Amino acid sequence: MPTPPTSPLLRPLRIGPLTVPGRLYKSATSETRATDDGYVTDELLEFYEPMVRAGTPLIVTGNLYVSLQSKSAGRQAGIDADDKKAGLRDWVDLAHSGGSLLIAQLNHGGRQMVRSADPGKSPVSASAVREPLYGTKPRPLRRDEIPAVVETFAAAAERARGVGFDGVQIHAAHGYLLGQFLTPHTNRRTDGYGGSLDNRMRLLREVYRAIRTRVGDDFPVLLKLNGTDMLPLRRGATTAELVRVAKVMEGEGIDAVEISRAHYESWPGMILGHYKGFIRGQITEGSGMSMTRRRRLAMLAAAPVIERVAERLAPGGEGFNLPQAEQFTARLDIPVICVGGFHTREGMESAVDSGRCDAVSAARAMIADPFLFRNVQDPMPGRPVCEYRNGCIARFGGKAIDCYVEPIRIQKNHMLRRTEQA
Ligand SMILES: Cc1cc2nc3c(=O)[nH]c(=O)nc-3n(C[C@H](O)[C@H](O)[C@H](O)COP(=O)(O)O)c2cc1C
Repeated sequence: MPTPPTSPLLRPLRIGPLTVPGRLYKSATSETRATDDGYVTDELLEFYEPMVRAGTPLIVTGNLYVSLQSKSAGRQAGIDADDKKAGLRDWVDLAHSGGSLLIAQLNHGGRQMVRSADPGKSPVSASAVREPLYGTKPRPLRRDEIPAVVETFAAAAERARGVGFDGVQIHAAHGYLLGQFLTPHTNRRTDGYGGSLDNRMRLLREVYRAIRTRVGDDFPVLLKLNGTDMLPLRRGATTAELVRVAKVMEGEGIDAVEISRAHYESWPGMILGHYKGFIRGQITEGSGMSMTRRRRLAMLAAAPVIERVAERLAPGGEGFNLPQAEQFTARLDIPVICVGGFHTREGMESAVDSGRCDAVSAARAMIADPFLFRNVQDPMPGRPVCEYRNGCIARFGGKAIDCYVEPIRIQKNHMLRRTEQA
């Protein structure tokens, strides 16, 4: 049955100066579709084209590296240099051709760096705490290096505005550099950037202020933040602390916050769902291809147990970040966007209607069904529906992001062919 015009998913939402004509967005998905040195390709634009054609009101890019040091995966797109502007402009033009707003997600990977991103590069972090999934041992950023990191974010935001993006999203979720500073487990510093929560959020604040100075007050600056670090037995930032970070950033002038969860080392982390075959996919076709042979063999040997435990501990479900997101909604006046498992109209409408969040976003469900925004309103027969088998993220950093569950992929390609002909 078509969605009634009163559906909360069709209700406009104000994000800073923008009026977004709907409340279901595409969350960031690093696509592994840029060139090796980070330029936009046709293959990358092809991934976005159907989402635009489906009228998705707001789309967040995959995380864009703001400097070579910040690049975290092979074939990741960058926004670190002016010669990338032409390709970025094509991306913006594509989004605008269908009326979608396009937000550039800005990121520094810190210690969460897949080795294929740039072998031989020395990764940096808040402190020298090894990243256990990839085995990366970072060195702490020196105090005198921090202004240059802040500057790369500001220059990237200025570039984003220059080529016509509708806003930027600062990526402080998922345990990348800004998250590494926020989290006590990865931040053991004793200078003004470590210790108290105020100190741990200092880098995030400096990044935000530098961006705002460069882009002006009338350009949306969003934030992606964890609602839980998911680091049992380690000192993760607590939800109460993360809500406080959001509150402080609201006071600074952030326009909206999107709530997710986890670091790489909280594996399975942000992508709750099913894991059977995940590790083999990761090692043979994804970011695991660049792991040492020893690590690959160890992971393959442990795969059956790890995958079973992950599935048992983290079953997912629609709106799996809502218990945390609603705590942000209760404290903030700016819009709260919740990501995590959304794929049905009922689930999305109830999240928004109940007031637990102001809007929802989807990553895997949009990969499986780029027409999701249209299909939740008026479902096409035989449309692809995400089963959260995680084949997409298993291939991240190796193969182009797509749905790798064969029957769903066939349905998707069939749907795309039909809609192209229509
Ligand atoms: C293939 C893939 C790539 C992702 N890349 C990013 C990224 O670049 N930036 C980001 O903030 N989150 C990224 N995520 C996480 C999603 O934005 C989202 O937070 C998470 O998948 C939970 O949402 P879902 O249940 O709708 O998939 C990625 C997820 C997937 C599956």
